[in-house]
Amino acid sequence: MLKAIYPGSFDPVTMGHWDLIQRAEKLVDHLVVAVLHNPSKQPTFSVAERAGFLRELTSAYPKVEVVTFNGLLVDLARQTNAQCIIRGVRAFSDFEYEFQMALMNRKLHTELETLFLMPKEEYSIISSRLVREVGSMGGDISGFVPDPLKDRITRRLLNPSEIG
Ligand code: PNS
Repeated sequence: MLKAIYPGSFDPVTMGHWDLIQRAEKLVDHLVVAVLHNPSKQPTFSVAERAGFLRELTSAYPKVEVVTFNGLLVDLARQTNAQCIIRGVRAFSDFEYEFQMALMNRKLHTELETLFLMPKEEYSIISSRLVREVGSMGGDISGFVPDPLKDRITRRLLNPSEIG
């Protein structure tokens, strides 16, 4: 039974993330989408909101479970008995950070492998940071975030103080 973790900040979830979840879900028996709760960082969407969006998107996918976590990813991997981590790479610029993280995680947990998947080309320019920037300045984020979430994400980006 292959169990994988797809970790991230998901602040907010983008079409790139959603594309990756759907690709990864086909490859494994169980996919844990793990939302980082980092108390030292002020997110735009609370960890409950970020996890809620992901649960809504994946409600028809029985192999997918959404959890929140803090602390080390390798500890979550041990707790959930996951054998691998899924990460997305969009461009060469992602490589160095992902390479360091994958090798550090493997140092901390020698059995843990990281699998890299590439999102659909049209999503390779999308990041949560750019979605936040474009949306907060009144730009149209259609096609950058999953359609059912677009209005809620747009509203929050225009009114960041309403964080739930
Ligand atoms: O979506 P992001 O922000 O690129 O995801 C980064 C994430 C959550 C995968 C990474 O920050 C992480 O794993 N954090 C947990 C703490 C940890 O294990 N740090 C050591 C990584 S080598």
